[in-house]
Amino acid sequence: MSALSPVGVVFRLSHRLLTADWTAGHRLLTGPAWSFCVTGGHFHSCLLKMARPSSDMAAFRELFAKAKHIVVLTGAGVSAESGVPTFRGAGGFWRRFQAQDLATPEAFRSNPSLVWEFYHYRREVMLSKFPNAAHIAIAECEKRLAQQGRRVAVITQNIDELHKRAGSNNVLELHGNLFTTRCTKCRDVRVNKDSPICPALAGKGLPDPDTPDARIPESELPRCTKGNCGGLLRPHVVWFGESLDPKVLDQTDKELKDCDLCLVVGTSSVVYPAAMFAPQVASRGVPVAEFNIEATPVTNSLGFHFEGPAGENVKAALAPHPSEPTQ
Ligand SMILES: NC(=O)c1ccc[n+]([C@@H]2O[C@H](COP(=O)([O-])OP(=O)(O)OC[C@H]3O[C@@H](n4cnc5c(N)ncnc54)[C@H](O)[C@@H]3O)[C@@H](O)[C@H]2O)c1
Ligand SMILES: [Zn+2]
Repeated sequence: MSALSPVGVVFRLSHRLLTADWTAGHRLLTGPAWSFCVTGGHFHSCLLKMARPSSDMAAFRELFAKAKHIVVLTGAGVSAESGVPTFRGAGGFWRRFQAQDLATPEAFRSNPSLVWEFYHYRREVMLSKFPNAAHIAIAECEKRLAQQGRRVAVITQNIDELHKRAGSNNVLELHGNLFTTRCTKCRDVRVNKDSPICPALAGKGLPDPDTPDARIPESELPRCTKGNCGGLLRPHVVWFGESLDPKVLDQTDKELKDCDLCLVVGTSSVVYPAAMFAPQVASRGVPVAEFNIEATPVTNSLGFHFEGPAGENVKAALAPHPSEPTQ
């Protein structure tokens, strides 16, 4: 059994979306996730004994010049410079709730109106936002390297579609997408960019903590238009406690196993299973570079850490290298 095996097992077992608080060195998960976290904890403690990561951009650029298959793992921080609030920053609250309170199947069952208000707000916010320098650098790098027979793939936790809007084609959306709905009755999945998504949500969803809940009757929330179904629609996103799409996870697994360079951009590395991906790649001896405005629980397990805004640092990291053919 290779040194990688335990991590591989952990990765396969932990397909549910979960959060963990690594900051105090304790895992706050309970139930089926426990064994996964204990193993993950041992793994992280081993890695934490490793040397501090390098911030030598010239050294990273040498590895970049040679890489044939680059994976870019992204989280909410890659969209922060587009004005999209992250979960753990100051903009992490909507009314009196944190995302973890509303992005759950239980919240939707008990108050679908409130959860739809929250997602309606996030959809409407996204209509006024645009890809930033980091999204664009990643998309341009994918196109440029494809012409050199090299691959760039994005694995994102984000549901905001900004990578696709920037022009990235190889994108795996681990947690789904804000602009796709799923019927709770017939399970029909379809793209929906309507604004507002239904008349009753027009002008609703304001984030101010004093805003009264709209209490929209279920019959007036977004409904399925397939045939005569009429079922209640939900956002086609993965909520906390739900399983990630096995097809997306299989593709993710393949990208992580095949890559020879990995960038991990703007993620707090506390949401599982995505939090395991960068340490998993690093444990194979593949160079992994973290781009974040601060250190995270996985920083010390990675080869590089570039502290600062993603727009600046990712752009510098992925710019054309002098060794690349001119186009
Ligand atoms: N844009 C989105 O789609 C969006 C927004 C909020 C949350 N989410 C969801 O949040 C969950 C939380 O995990 P997460 O790790 O993605 O987000 P997170 O909010 O937990 O962490 C954001 C990370 O980005 C870093 N960051 C902030 N600004 C940055 C910048 N300018 N440059 C580089 N790094 C920066 C922060 O230091 C932090 O580590 C995921 O499930 C994701 O689906 C998505
Ligand atoms: Zn339906």
